[in-house]
Amino acid sequence: MTISQPDPPTPALPAFAAVVVAAGKGLRAGGAVPKQFASWQGAPLVRHSVERLLAAGAAPLVVAIPADHHDDAAAALAGLAVTLVPGGATRQQSVRAALDHLAGDEAIQRVLIHDAARPDLPRAVIAALVAALDHAPGAIPVLPVVDSVVRGSAGRREAAVSRDGLYRVQTPQAFRLDVIVAAHRAWPAEREAGDDATVADAAGLAIALVSGDERLRKVTFASDFESPPRPSPSKDHTMICRTGMGFDVHRLVDGEELWLCGVKIDHPRGLSGHSDADVAIHALVDALLGAIAAGDIGDHFPPSDPQWKGASSDRFLAHAAMLVHNAGYSVANIDVTIICEAPRIGPHKAAMREALATIMGITIDQVSVKATTTERLGLTGRGEGIAAQAVATVTRPTP
Ligand code: CTP
Ligand code: MG
Repeated sequence: MTISQPDPPTPALPAFAAVVVAAGKGLRAGGAVPKQFASWQGAPLVRHSVERLLAAGAAPLVVAIPADHHDDAAAALAGLAVTLVPGGATRQQSVRAALDHLAGDEAIQRVLIHDAARPDLPRAVIAALVAALDHAPGAIPVLPVVDSVVRGSAGRREAAVSRDGLYRVQTPQAFRLDVIVAAHRAWPAEREAGDDATVADAAGLAIALVSGDERLRKVTFASDFESPPRPSPSKDHTMICRTGMGFDVHRLVDGEELWLCGVKIDHPRGLSGHSDADVAIHALVDALLGAIAAGDIGDHFPPSDPQWKGASSDRFLAHAAMLVHNAGYSVANIDVTIICEAPRIGPHKAAMREALATIMGITIDQVSVKATTTERLGLTGRGEGIAAQAVATVTRPTP
């Protein structure tokens, strides 16, 4: 009999600071207090994302607030480890004021800059942004444009615009602290910037794209406060739903590292094969590609192509997830089964789910990792190799 162990706690993210801008007037929402202090789903709007950032480890966390609403802000954020600073007349002046508060602290390398008006902030987006800063000075969460796009003026259609390469941009936006401070200081105070990536771009910084989340939508109008923004399965909102499956086997050998689901496992033997031979990710990549009928892992990442030679499997998975998004689909859920006698997978399941969710930019509840043995029968039973199979379901609204 196997006694199941409780999941280990969620692994910590690399250290990061955060800025939450909550110094606007909320004119379009038109309430008695600026919208960020009004109640949304049982708590002041600003409190939701601040709590999510703190739970993910943000420290220090600076909130820019309207100079004349100190008491409202203090009440909305009571008991939370935050510093309040007065914001400015425009959003980027508010960001600048908060960044000035963090500037020069050499212990801080990464900062996430977030709108208080986007309360529903998934941990997976935070994790993906923080991770992306290992490879780029800035990173932003984006979603594909699924509707057709046209240019128009004075109520008349002018011309269609190709949606190829177009994305909707959300916050938080992540940057290395020193470079975004310098970029904001170089930006003319009177000029409006749509977001911080615009300021960073003007300073010549390369900005990576990670998958955003529909849950991050901005609360803008009074009606956004009325009902929980939950998609209803009415006739008007039917979804196209597709499924793909993948299977893979790699040989177990001495002298190799063992990587499974993006997690390195301490084990006397490891898998041999293409890249880090993460058999579970390879099966998952095939499932994602299968769901959008886009071939298989060998078509996209041939070992002969120098750009993929020796690349870690998380890059294949991130690329496959981007292909799914580019095809207009969101990943609904994935389910991976690892087939081996050893090592025991149970103690690593939580870390594996977190790693896969982070790489794919989805939430941990969309990711399942399971394991089984073959009762010592066959190639996995004899310990010659490890096999994995995966299923992925992807959805998009009906056009
Ligand atoms: N913001 C800010 N300082 C400003 C203007 C905006 O900190 N001078 C913040 C808002 O509080 C919000 C975020 O920037 O969290 C995004 O702005 P938006 O949704 O436009 O909020 P408001 O400007 O407050 O709303 P409105 O445009 O309807 O007046
Ligand atoms: Mg505004």
